[in-house]
Amino acid sequence: MTAPIPSNTSVRDETSNRPAKPVDGRQLRDALAGRAIVIVGMMGAGKSSIGKRLAQALDVDFVDSDDEIEKAANLTIPEIFERHGEAHFRDGERKVIARLLSEGNRVIALGGGAFENPQTRQEVSEHGLSIWLKADFDTLMTRVRRRSHRPLLQTPDPEGTMRRLMAEREGNYALADLTVPSRDGAHGDVVQSCLVALSEHLLSGTTQS
Ligand code: S3P
Repeated sequence: MTAPIPSNTSVRDETSNRPAKPVDGRQLRDALAGRAIVIVGMMGAGKSSIGKRLAQALDVDFVDSDDEIEKAANLTIPEIFERHGEAHFRDGERKVIARLLSEGNRVIALGGGAFENPQTRQEVSEHGLSIWLKADFDTLMTRVRRRSHRPLLQTPDPEGTMRRLMAEREGNYALADLTVPSRDGAHGDVVQSCLVALSEHLLSGTTQS
């Protein structure tokens, strides 16, 4: 468990080796002014694991758009794809994310394809602050191989599919407000990097009390 950040905790950014910066969870929450932190990126980037820990650190709620879609449909994502097709899933995904964004200050992990939708990108930019968790191909494949529930990777060539989706999507992920590298086996470090990036983005120029 990542404990909530007390005021003026110094957080090391081990990913970029930047010097320690003071991070204040309360100030970060205030600076968000009701906006959500929205985590985007490919399947296997660690959006839910990192998002949960980031929410704990900031003492806000965490929600995963895939879980909410499953609850709303009372079906699993593979069942939605199988019974109704991807277009139906995407339509439900867009609506669920719009609702989650209207519910205020929290961390939201989006499904890997959600940021492809221009309306969702627009709504995220209006009501949230987005972080692209950027992982390389090997990291993504190592993680997605551990679980076989993702319908888009049920192809004869999952590696080729992953490479194609990365190439198609990276331009849109790059539109996120912040980009944080994500690598295997270092969740704590990635959370720290998110906190430093948020702090620099939201608090630079403000006086930390
Ligand atoms: C998808 C990613 C999945 C899920 C669905 C489609 C995608 O979420 O939304 O299987 O299009 O990349 P994760 O990114 O959480 O695996």
